[in-house]
Amino acid sequence: MTPLTPRDRLIVALDVADAAAADKLIAAIGDAAIFYKIGMELAYGGDGLALVGRLAAAGKKIFLDLKLHDIPNTVEKATEQAARRGATFLTVHAYPQTMKAAVAGARGSGLSILGVTVLTSFDDEDMIEAGYRFGVVEMVRRRAEQAQALGVQGLVASAAEAKAVREAVGAGMVLVTPGIRPAGADAGDQKRVATPERAIRDGADYLVVGRPITTASDPREAAEAIVQEIAEALKPTLR
Ligand code: C5P
Repeated sequence: MTPLTPRDRLIVALDVADAAAADKLIAAIGDAAIFYKIGMELAYGGDGLALVGRLAAAGKKIFLDLKLHDIPNTVEKATEQAARRGATFLTVHAYPQTMKAAVAGARGSGLSILGVTVLTSFDDEDMIEAGYRFGVVEMVRRRAEQAQALGVQGLVASAAEAKAVREAVGAGMVLVTPGIRPAGADAGDQKRVATPERAIRDGADYLVVGRPITTASDPREAAEAIVQEIAEALKPTLR
């Protein structure tokens, strides 16, 4: 496998309402980014899902962040459809049944499944309220190990969890990390953010970046700056 370049590792979150708004952003970013995340807002908005095939045909890569969770037959068939559209990553909630079905649906395609262990909006109290026996940390660890055992290719982990998740699963799984802010940037509503450098050093393979690029006065320049930060972080440290 060819090693990932710093630019390969940047995933820009297209958190906009429809394909027209996404197209504007993609044009403003130009060739500074090649990987885009389409989440539920855009997917359910005007022509959002059609954008997957269109971007794939234009040589871009797509992370379809739909966080599937349903009965196995439905998850398997939906995953097959996502693969047909040409997505590179698809998220599913990290329940064993769901992960198994998604892995089956993606088999033989270019699609990799990413497990979402525990939503970062959950704390230990939310876990109890939802009826779980474990707190967040223990549940993240268990689900990461289950994902690995079931052949799931990767995990989404917040910057705060990245190091622990990497330690739990080793080098074999892809780790995708949101909540990234360049040094000095506005955190917005994100509570636990990390710089690109920190996230890469903690073991992230891909960084998901939204507002620091999408609301920048020059999105292309903002994306280039983050690619540079990633490149710096990947340089071997001088001893
Ligand atoms: O704008 P910002 O960089 O905060 O966007 C981060 C993206 O990553 C959003 O699309 C958000 O939904 C997603 N995400 C996140 N935290 C998680 C999982 C996904 O911010 N734990």
